[in-house]
Amino acid sequence: MTNAPSESTIPMEELLGHLWADYAEINPQASRVAKLLSARGETVVNDHIALRTFDLAPIGLQTLARPFLESGYQARDTYRFPNKKLQAQHFEPPRADWPKVFISELVVAEMPTSTQAAIRGLVEQVEESHAARTDLCTSGRPWSLSFEIYQALREASEYAAWVAAFGFRANHFTVLVNGLDGFPTLQALDDFLENQGFALNDVGGKIKGSAATLLEQSSTLASNVDVSFADGDHRIPGCYYEFAKRHPQADGTLYQGFIAASADKIFESTDRGQD
Ligand code: NI
Repeated sequence: MTNAPSESTIPMEELLGHLWADYAEINPQASRVAKLLSARGETVVNDHIALRTFDLAPIGLQTLARPFLESGYQARDTYRFPNKKLQAQHFEPPRADWPKVFISELVVAEMPTSTQAAIRGLVEQVEESHAARTDLCTSGRPWSLSFEIYQALREASEYAAWVAAFGFRANHFTVLVNGLDGFPTLQALDDFLENQGFALNDVGGKIKGSAATLLEQSSTLASNVDVSFADGDHRIPGCYYEFAKRHPQADGTLYQGFIAASADKIFESTDRGQD
């Protein structure tokens, strides 16, 4: 007898498909970039998917990681972002055609008291059964949110406001530049995208990192999207698309980790949006 997955288990490929479909709907620039690249004969390889949450039970980083670990992903390095009060961990897939997963969480206890109260007011609305879903990471926003609270959160933490407004979905997917034939450098891809009218996040320079740090990254600015709040629709920054060029380590294999100093700046791709 084989070990059949329980009924509530979603196959990883289906989960990754849901994550992309939801992300592409909210971030049409990702589909436009993917189309432009495939029109040039490129096959887009996803380097990693980024997920965000609050470090509160029952929805912390390790809860979001569960389905990936159950599908054979391995927990790897942890990261701290003291200025943004974030911590993160990355997970490596058991198959080369699955992306890495980078999960971050806001350390809520390090936020001002009023911000903590607002966030706890959202997380208290999450049913245990919702948090137990295998597809929690692509289940959207499980709480009601007013635009006033969103704006108050935004003053304290752009990250907190993003999680409050969008809930559980991919914050970004990432094109692996090494997987493209016609773009030998990240700069070449960035130039192509800017010529096509995409605005790139220039916080800390458009390219974060270098060959010396083994990872170069750039990203679009988030697309503005209409989001429903308890008191009506408002247009706010949503998701962005990231581009990563990995460099070989001393043993010749490509570096697979992340650089905290670069990720710190990449997080700011959702601080302002583009129409
Ligand atoms: Ni990323």
